[in-house]
Amino acid sequence: MRSLRIGLPLASLVTGAALLLTAPAAHAADTPLRDLAAAKGKLIGTAVTGSKLTGTYGDLAGGQFSSLTPGNAMKWGTVEPTRGSFNWTEADQIVAFAQAHNQKVRGHTLVWHNQNPSWLTNGSWTPAQLGSLLQNHITTEVSRYKGEIAAWDVVNEPFNDDGTYRSDLWYDNLGSGYIANALTWAHAADPDAKLYINDYNVEGVNAKSDALYNLVKSLKAQGVPIDGVGLQAHLILGQVPSTLQQNIQRFADLGVDVAITELDVRMQLPADSTKLAQQKADFNSVVAACAAVTRCVNVTVWGFTDADSWVPGTFPGYGAATPYDENYQPKPAYYGIATALGGSDSGGGTPPPTGACTAAYSVSSQWNTGFTGQVTISCSGASLSSWKANWTFGAGQRITQAWNATCTQSGTAVSCANASYNGSVPDGGSVTFGFNGSWSGSNPVPTVTLG
Ligand code: G3I
Repeated sequence: MRSLRIGLPLASLVTGAALLLTAPAAHAADTPLRDLAAAKGKLIGTAVTGSKLTGTYGDLAGGQFSSLTPGNAMKWGTVEPTRGSFNWTEADQIVAFAQAHNQKVRGHTLVWHNQNPSWLTNGSWTPAQLGSLLQNHITTEVSRYKGEIAAWDVVNEPFNDDGTYRSDLWYDNLGSGYIANALTWAHAADPDAKLYINDYNVEGVNAKSDALYNLVKSLKAQGVPIDGVGLQAHLILGQVPSTLQQNIQRFADLGVDVAITELDVRMQLPADSTKLAQQKADFNSVVAACAAVTRCVNVTVWGFTDADSWVPGTFPGYGAATPYDENYQPKPAYYGIATALGGSDSGGGTPPPTGACTAAYSVSSQWNTGFTGQVTISCSGASLSSWKANWTFGAGQRITQAWNATCTQSGTAVSCANASYNGSVPDGGSVTFGFNGSWSGSNPVPTVTLG
């Protein structure tokens, strides 16, 4: 392992280390996500921008997360903008920060259709030349960080949504064999790094994830070094695939690790308390699905703050996709992650707007056939003297027992009424009730309405 690289001022390393011991004020009462994840045997990660790793951004990146992924710093276009002339500054900075904060690094990414240097994409190469350029690139980058990268996204986004191979520089010139070659070259350069194929829209069982599944199966059968599958999970509010856990499990059953590599949940702006509550449920169900599968090893969010998210730039009118707001305050989504990892729900972040009572559903633990869930009803600028929380289960779940409420289920419809002692929810107050349930196949989080 290399010693800390130059490039990161000593002062910022010292500051970062000191701040590890002192959680930012906003979270003084909360156990850091990285500790919650560690207790479950998982890593919790975030994509980061190297230049921002100071101040509050650095405190949170170092204090809350146990894994970092450079958002752009290790892409080919960043590290070799001119042929033969390398710029490792930001990548080195992130690796050094991670080492100073006892974090793993996910290297991202070696072979992609995007963010390649223009000298490469504009060049005219024979397939043999292109293969050799790719081999050199992989060997150079992986060797440089040998022993310092826990996992590499070796191949990124090789498929179309229909499960055919994406037509790009690599497939068009080298055929699908570029994938096995890339993995083999990366393994030769760092035999200890876990090697992944990473893609989006492969979170649920569908044509694209079927293609990825068949590829991984065939690579394993051929003895190609493939250790893991990355499910990016760039999701839309309320659209966590119901087959997520089943899909994670089927990859695990092939004998590879699984990571949620780029989680975010975008919504149409402006955000409001209802959307933020749904987002909390969405983050919760993704993290719970990973927590329920032993070989799901890492959940990484693609930027932890809305101030550093790719979403608004790519989807105009959409945003608020991460667990912290632009002022680094934890959103309800933060508590969706925390509770899925066994942490407490310290208020759920942003209170509902004036004049509203809202309900938020979360799964606090899940096992083979059962789960424990809870619903918190919160009021702000309004109050309740009695309540009913209603929802529809989407995947055949059944309530088996409830406390602090009386729940009835008819088919998929559940209705839970207050107990004699907790019908009153004052302005600014909240009430939580819990239940056990059974599930099989998947356990998607429903939307709760108050009646
Ligand atoms: O660095 C330049 C800066 O000098 C310039 O002033 C600015 C003006 O637009 O652009 C900056 O580059 C941007 C770069 O991010 C760094 O911020 C690019 O325009 C922008 O296109 C690029 O976007 C990145 C995107 O990949 C490209 O597809 C996002 O930051 C990055 O988060 C995103 O990450 C990808 C994963 O690698 C793979 N999966 C999907 C995910 C989201 O697109």
